[in-house]
Parts: sequence; structure tokens; C-alpha cells
Amino acid sequence: MKDNLVVGLDIGTTKICALVARLSEEGHLKILSVGKCSSRGVRKGMVTDIEATSQAVKEAVTSAELSAGLKVKGVWVSIAGDHILAQDNRGFVKATGEDRTITAKDVEAVMEEASQLVLPPDREIIHVLPQQFTIDGQNLVKQPVGMKGTHLGVGVHVVTASSAWRGNIENCVRRAGYESEGVVLQSLASAMATVHPEEEDLGVALVDIGGGTTDLAIFLREGLRFSRVIPVGGSHITSDIAVGLHTTREKAEEIKLKYGFLSQATMRRKEKIRVEKIAGRGSYTVESKDLVRIIQPRVEEILELVEKELTRSGYRELLSAGMVLTGGTSLLRGIRELAEDQLGLPTKIGQAHLEEFQELTSPIYATVVGLVLYGIKRSEELTSKERLGVRIKEWLKEFF
Ligand SMILES: Nc1ncnc2c1ncn2[C@@H]1O[C@H](COP(=O)(O)OP(=O)(O)OP(=O)(O)O)[C@@H](O)[C@H]1O
Ligand SMILES: [Mg+2]
Repeated sequence: MKDNLVVGLDIGTTKICALVARLSEEGHLKILSVGKCSSRGVRKGMVTDIEATSQAVKEAVTSAELSAGLKVKGVWVSIAGDHILAQDNRGFVKATGEDRTITAKDVEAVMEEASQLVLPPDREIIHVLPQQFTIDGQNLVKQPVGMKGTHLGVGVHVVTASSAWRGNIENCVRRAGYESEGVVLQSLASAMATVHPEEEDLGVALVDIGGGTTDLAIFLREGLRFSRVIPVGGSHITSDIAVGLHTTREKAEEIKLKYGFLSQATMRRKEKIRVEKIAGRGSYTVESKDLVRIIQPRVEEILELVEKELTRSGYRELLSAGMVLTGGTSLLRGIRELAEDQLGLPTKIGQAHLEEFQELTSPIYATVVGLVLYGIKRSEELTSKERLGVRIKEWLKEFF
């Protein structure tokens, strides 16, 4: 962590956002600046035009640099897309510490062991996340260091990505003039910013409904159990509005943000909406309930896809803490109520709890805030594997 700076870079389908923060010696995180711009060259969460995206990355990071008055070097960058896959694996090692005590070295060794997967040559591991450690066959908490025992085991969730798509992201960052410190699964980042450890313990599904993708992550007993990227998001709602109302995508987006709601939200029910037709063919008015008829089926379809994945995961019945929605589409009025009704799960809109930069508490920034939190956690793990992450937990507490 150079200069104690930690920078998150969220490359989304609709927006690119950079967040610059500094960690003080005492472990206090201070947000310094945010820079953002419209995304270019990204489709369904994946970079398809490296040149266009790298320019947008440069624009967003430069804007954050200018407002913080400093130069950024390394960034923690988000990754998504339906090339992301995940599976569970296990590892076992014999403890090497004196006095039959598990050391940080043993944990490293068992994690290494659990990371040994045979993968096709075009795929690589992006995360190996411990779910549960066992000592001498007994299930344990998340932190085995210092415990007595001779055999250490671990169950992990391994997230893999296509090497080519991951490479495209890193190329973009490099071309924009920055170093990638690492790629982070978007849903994992969003969860770090908005999901409380107690919810992760009880069982919770984080659903980040962005512009081009809906990212799902299921946590139980504080470990990531299942993750999936569904290639549908808010842009599809905008396209439906454009087609349904015979207008441009720009106008459709504007109408969605201003008048969009689902039948569960009762406000503005009788509002008249003026719609400009394409290519100067005049304008006409529709009622907002006509808009609901276009928006609602698409949102129901997205939620249906989420439900299918929840069922497929096998964790559907174990989500005692329900669902947390993040991403720009979670701002659609009435979506929380619709999700609760349709999936039968208690649902909340996820917000990062930040005192400074109030704007960042919007669920649309959950990923970028989470990237910074992830960056801190990883940097700390890398520089001091022996310190057991105790301080990290203290910092993270500040966000809930
Ligand atoms: N108030 C709002 N009501 C409804 N939709 C909204 C609102 N604000 C933003 N959106 C929608 O949210 C989407 C963008 O969300 P977000 O910024 O989370 O996506 P992204 O990170 O760029 O994309 P992705 O994560 O899918 O790659 C757009 O489709 C936008 O229209
Ligand atoms: Mg996003």
C-alpha cells in the first residue's frame, strides 16, 4: 500500500468510478476523493473495447487525482461477466508449529493446498475464500491461528475467470497509466461495503443489480458459499422503455430515472409523462401506469433469474437474513417490496455507512467502496500475515 493510499476502480457497464482513500497509522480510513465518468467499451460487465475503456478509466482516475491533489499508482479493480465461475474445494495439512499450535504458516499452507485446482489453460483463479477451518476434524470458527491441534483442514470457495477477459481489464488499467493491484469480484466488493458480518453468518444473498449485469453472492457462517453473474441489468429496462414508448435510449433512461417505479410504490400513479418520439416525429403523453407495465415484467424476470440461481445454489432455504440489494437498479422505487413479495425473503437496500462523502452511501457506489475495503484487507494480509487480521476487523466495523 504505497503512501497508505488505497484506490478502488469499479469498471461497470454504465459507469466507471474511482475512489481514493488513505489509511492513517492508527488504522482510520479517510476517503479523499471520488472520480467518475460514463463507461465506454464495456458490455455485460466485460471490456470489449480496450482503447475506449482505458480512456474512460483515465478520465475517472484523473478526476479523482485532481480533486485529491495527488497521483495514483495502483488500483484495486472490479471484475464481472458471465465468464466468472466458482466452485468449492478443500485442503488439509499437518500442523508444523511447536507445541501443537496452529500457526499463520500452516494457514498459508492449507490455503495453498486448497487452491490446487486443475483448470483449463484459458482460466485462472481470482479468489480463494476460506469458508471454514477444521482442526483434527472438528469444525471451527474462521480464525484457527493459535489454536491447539495437529491437522488443519479448510473448505474454500474458489472463484475463477477467463484469462482473456481478466487480461483485458488489466490491459485497460495499464494503458490508462496505472498498475492493477488485483481484480475483485464485484459482488464480493459490494457485500464488503453493505452486508453486516452478522447477516453473513446467518445466511444472506447479496444481489447487485447494475446496468449490464446482476451479480449474486451467497454468504453463510461468514463465508462466501456461491457466486454467479447474470448478464441482465438496468440497461435492459431502458431498452424495453425505448422500444415500448418508441423513443431514444437517452430519453428512455431519463424517463426511467424520473418516473420509473414498480406497482408496489404508490407515488406518482397518475402522472402524465411526455415522450418525444425518435427522429423529430413529435411527442405524445403516456400515464405512469403505462410505464409500470413496461418496467415491471423485466424486473420480475431479473428477480426470477435470481430466484433460479438461489434454488440452484442449494442455499435458498438457509437465507435467514434474506437479501441485500445494491447497484443502480436497486434505486428503482418499489423494487424492495417487489423482491420481498416475489422471492419471499426479507429484503433491504444495501448502503455503506460512511460519515464523510454522503453520496457514497448510495447502493450505486457499493462496489467501489467495497473495493477500497477489500484493498485494505488484502494489503494488510500481504504485508503482515502474522497479524491475524484483528486490526482489519476493527477498521471494517467503522462501516456498519
Ligand atoms: N434512480 C434510479 N432508478 C432506476 N434505475 C436507476 C436509478 N439510478 C440508476 N439506475 C440504473 O442503474 C444502472 C446502473 O447501475 P450501476 O451503476 O450499479 O451499474 P454499473 O456498475 O455501471 O454496471 P454493471 O455493474 O452491471 O456492470 C443503470 O441501468 C441506471 O439506469
Ligand atoms: Mg456495477
